Amino acid sequence: MLPDADDLPDLLLDLAVPHEDINEVVALRRTVTADPGVRRLLEECAEDATGGVREVDDPDGLGARAAEAPAALGEYFLVYVFVTALPHVRALHRAREIPDDVSRHTLADLGRGMALHRRRYGRGGLAPRHAHWLTRHFCGRLYQLGRLQYERTGLGDRTARAVTAAGTAVTAGEPCLDLHIPDFHGPLSPAACDRSLDRARKFFARHFPEETHAVAACHSWLLDPQLRQHLPADSNIVRFQERFRPGWEDPESADTTPVGFVFGDPDLPVRDLPRRTSVERMVGDHLRAGGHWYVGHGWFPWEH
Ligand SMILES: CC(C)(COP(=O)(O)OP(=O)(O)OC[C@H]1O[C@@H](n2cnc3c(N)ncnc32)[C@H](O)[C@@H]1OP(=O)(O)O)[C@@H](O)C(=O)NCCC(=O)NCCS
Repeated sequence: MLPDADDLPDLLLDLAVPHEDINEVVALRRTVTADPGVRRLLEECAEDATGGVREVDDPDGLGARAAEAPAALGEYFLVYVFVTALPHVRALHRAREIPDDVSRHTLADLGRGMALHRRRYGRGGLAPRHAHWLTRHFCGRLYQLGRLQYERTGLGDRTARAVTAAGTAVTAGEPCLDLHIPDFHGPLSPAACDRSLDRARKFFARHFPEETHAVAACHSWLLDPQLRQHLPADSNIVRFQERFRPGWEDPESADTTPVGFVFGDPDLPVRDLPRRTSVERMVGDHLRAGGHWYVGHGWFPWEH
């Protein structure tokens, strides 16, 4: 059941849906509710969005189904999918006694995804890849606690091998927390990360006491070891890297990853990338000089 048209704007605000998208989303409510076929598709996609149908984050899942929605709904259909899924995730959060502010800040990633969409395409909506990402939040797997997001997941094979080789015997698949670094949240200062990590230790012990996480891991362009050669030692990115022990080396380059995160569009032509900040200059200059960027993989012990 969708909230009525009068309640919808407040609900969208709580999800940090950008102001300029709100009227358009609300205006489409009639198109969504008028057609039983669309309502059925919406319910099915909402179930998918909460991990009720298939493996969470399956790239062939939600986005492909959502593409069956009428063209008139455009890229806003996925927003309705998450609005429909909202009671499910709220109930999940309530059952775990997740504080309201954590719940709100976590689910506000929906609006962040829409802001990133507008930045990249110049129009409102939510891209399927953001929708796949949000299934982690809507099935209760991911939480934002201050500067960082934490995903309850299973330890990957290669990270498990690295941790074991460093002296702590762990098994692939055992519980692990993956750290993510949201955009539009100010600098990644060491103090903000420390505060977030302190909160997270208490949060997971309190709300998921049955899960023991041996390590926290991170898989990000921010952990490419080459960044240290290009950025000052006191830059936030370098200080963030220093928290991690080496995981494994990715042989595959991922040049479009930092381009996407820094400039908002992974497909931008490298020769035209702006050079306004030190990170922009570093990402573009290295590629223009024929270099490559890699996703780095790191971990550190999770103290309980
Ligand atoms: C991670 C992040 C917060 C780091 O920003 P920061 O704390 O300012 O980082 P640093 O202190 O190391 O960098 C300082 C310099 O880089 C610039 N910079 C950092 N991130 C930038 C970005 N995304 N776009 C443009 N410039 C950026 C800063 O403006 C500053 O420039 P200056 O030296 O010319 O003054 C920022 O890059 C960001 O929000 N990235 C998007 C999210 C992301 O990449 N997540 C990881 C997904 S795997």
